[in-house]
Amino acid sequence: MPLTNCEKITVNLDNDRSYDILVGGRLIEFAGKLIKPHLKRAFTVIVTDENVAKHHLADLQAAFSNQEIECEAIILPAGETSKKMATLEILLEKLLAFGVERNDVITILGGGVIGDLAGFAAAILRRGVDFVQIPTSILAQVDSSVGGKTGINSPHGKNLLGAFHQPKLVLADIDILDTLSDRHMRAGYAEIFKYALINDPEFYLWLLANGQKLIAGDKAARQYAVVKSCQAKALIVGLDEKELGIRALLNLGHTFGHALEAHCQYSERLIHGEGVAIGMVLAFEFSAFLGFNNGSDIEPIKQHLADIGLPTNIQFEGLQPLPSAAQMLEFMLQDKKTQQGEMTFILAKAVGKSFVEKNVDQQLVLNFLKGKNFK
Ligand SMILES: NC(=O)c1ccc[n+]([C@@H]2O[C@H](COP(=O)([O-])OP(=O)(O)OC[C@H]3O[C@@H](n4cnc5c(N)ncnc54)[C@H](O)[C@@H]3O)[C@@H](O)[C@H]2O)c1
Ligand SMILES: [Zn+2]
Repeated sequence: MPLTNCEKITVNLDNDRSYDILVGGRLIEFAGKLIKPHLKRAFTVIVTDENVAKHHLADLQAAFSNQEIECEAIILPAGETSKKMATLEILLEKLLAFGVERNDVITILGGGVIGDLAGFAAAILRRGVDFVQIPTSILAQVDSSVGGKTGINSPHGKNLLGAFHQPKLVLADIDILDTLSDRHMRAGYAEIFKYALINDPEFYLWLLANGQKLIAGDKAARQYAVVKSCQAKALIVGLDEKELGIRALLNLGHTFGHALEAHCQYSERLIHGEGVAIGMVLAFEFSAFLGFNNGSDIEPIKQHLADIGLPTNIQFEGLQPLPSAAQMLEFMLQDKKTQQGEMTFILAKAVGKSFVEKNVDQQLVLNFLKGKNFK
């Protein structure tokens, strides 16, 4: 069957680094053909994790061999704990052992963890090799595979070691999501909802009406939301690739969310999108606390997230026992937006009206957190 219903979004960057994101069904079958023009020789190394490999590696290998592209595969342990220096070192040594040269292209098949980790490996291997990305989780399709942020975590905090390194091509295969767990599907939804809350009230209404259908597996709804999200992110990244200004908006919910993730030591107690869901509610509540909005959006947002099956407050079981307000503040000060101890938050005047607020007083943050029952 030919490739049909595939949509293209271009991320516009300078110095010939612009690239396309293709969104559609069954894209993995066509991966060999679509990636081939980016290869200088008929060779690639696939980097994936054990869960994704079980379901999709054979299809990708077949797609390469159909095009007479030789490929090797590196299968890493799944989960956030792989985003660390020790795994990065293993990956780099394996890539070198497979003879990856400066002009080769690495194929990254996985969710945000494998994308961030292997993208960072590509950024530093032989001072930078190219890569293409086949994001396999909804979170990776709508967020992490767009925009070139790569990296790993440190015991000091999340994503503290990394590089900007853009892919040559992204293939977001909607059908690949069929094997994703419900929990990760819901978690990825939080990032989709984030785009609506940032600057798209129409998309917000669409999600209120169609979000549950999307979660339940409706392919048309899925594709629409992935395309909308990639367009939203591509636009912002095209304007501010290195996050000197408006790209920070994409962190809505993340200052609180990352602190909660750090408290859970990046474990399965709280996965990223769940932290973002709670974090977005906290960001709207903090905005109301500071007097930027009247709080009327908070209940509908919470209700929708709850309908989707996402946590909406810090009573969430995975967070217990809760950190103290002082510990939360400590985690939040590790945020990359903190400069000379001055905290920056993404706040909202209303749904679709988010903004960057600099120099937020730490005492106000503490007062807010104490009011939220962080002791
Ligand atoms: N670089 C960025 O701009 C950016 C943006 C947002 C998030 N992130 C990062 O992304 C990470 C989270 O990504 P994630 O939620 O995709 O996590 P993940 O990569 O751990 O994937 C979630 C789980 O689903 C499994 N999985 C993935 N695709 C599957 C599929 N199609 N079928 C079956 N199982 C599948 C994985 O093995 C894993 O167990 C975090 O580390 C976060 O910091 C990065
Ligand atoms: Zn995120």
